[in-house]
Amino acid sequence: MSRLLVTGGAGFIGSNFVHHVLEHTDHEVTVLDKLTYAGNRDSLAGLEDSRFTFVQGDIADATLVDSLFAEADAVVHYAAESHNDNSLNDPRPFLDTNIIGTYTLLEAARRHGTRFHHISTDEVYGDLELDDPERFTESTPYNPSSPYSSTKAGSDLLVRAWVRSFGVGATISNCSNNYGPYQHVEKFIPRQITNVIRGIRPKLYGAGQNVRDWIHADDHSSAVLTILDKGELGETYLIGADGERNNKDVVELILEQMGQPRDAYDHVTDRAGHDLRYAIDSAKLRTELGWAPQFGDFEAGLAATIQWYRDNEAWWAPSKDATEAFYAKQGQ
Ligand code: NAD
Ligand code: DAU
Repeated sequence: MSRLLVTGGAGFIGSNFVHHVLEHTDHEVTVLDKLTYAGNRDSLAGLEDSRFTFVQGDIADATLVDSLFAEADAVVHYAAESHNDNSLNDPRPFLDTNIIGTYTLLEAARRHGTRFHHISTDEVYGDLELDDPERFTESTPYNPSSPYSSTKAGSDLLVRAWVRSFGVGATISNCSNNYGPYQHVEKFIPRQITNVIRGIRPKLYGAGQNVRDWIHADDHSSAVLTILDKGELGETYLIGADGERNNKDVVELILEQMGQPRDAYDHVTDRAGHDLRYAIDSAKLRTELGWAPQFGDFEAGLAATIQWYRDNEAWWAPSKDATEAFYAKQGQ
């Protein structure tokens, strides 16, 4: 049994991880989360037992971080500013949290000798052509496009430097696009589902040819636990579930599954610098650590996600109007 400190555990993927850990292991979990607009305490509702503690605070608060590292056997670092569109509008918080916040955690890991796992993204590798035969691997050169992905790339490089120069016991994982419950309505899939529920037409950026490699958040959680358990210190592991689809196909599938005509959506202004395609080769994680995804069927996972948003309107409704007002200002 270990005591895990999970940063960003009130966000989308962090909260899925906390639920997964409490259900499948006997670890104790402490969440450190600032509860920004993206954090939601209700994503952790019902977990108030002796194995779970919630602390509201900033990962860049060195004093608070130091006291929490003193109590932890391992840290899983999810906290980040995570949305590309916000980073194009106001990059500064991305530098504060993704760079300075990660630096603050690494310094604490160095002082306390704490096992550290850094959660990152496939976006650090830039994008691929639609017909590129190669997918991203652990040795693909970094080539980030947006303020978001460049700060995530910077945070990965800090982790690598703290491993090499200071001997911090860290691993890194770079995962593809997640879907599932508890995702903020600013993101592509929940935005379109909640638009349809509200009677708003889904919004597709540009022609919708951009490809994302979808993985269920629960598969991301099992991969992170596998790396914590069996990963080699200093190594990077790519996490993906062979789920490539273009955005147009995903919008049309959402409409079909929600009983609407497949063409009942609008094309809107494209994202500046929009990455064309992400695709993950997760062979290293599968062959060296024996991990495999459980949610192979995207249609079934999407249907369950649609049902979750139908059943949990009280969870997402408070964010919906402000999110749509933000997009309306950008013509999106
Ligand atoms: P999210 O935006 O849903 O959640 C981020 C969480 O971090 C929120 O709860 C927020 O309150 C918290 N947070 C933000 N700044 C903080 C700070 N300074 N101190 C403490 N807490 C803070 O993000 P997400 O989609 O769950 O992503 C989680 C992590 O996974 C990120 O590191 C992201 O880069 C990475 N990732 C995301 C995806 C994806 O598809 N969403 C894919 C691969 C990797
Ligand atoms: O690849 C991993 C990344 O996936 C993570 O690092 C990020 O934190 C996460 O936000 C996600 O980034 P994307 O930019 O790919 O996700 P987003 O949900 O914002 O958009 C997915 C695709 O859908 C992208 O091509 C843009 C498009 N899109 C998005 C929105 C919000 C639309 O066409 N319409 C929309 O309304």
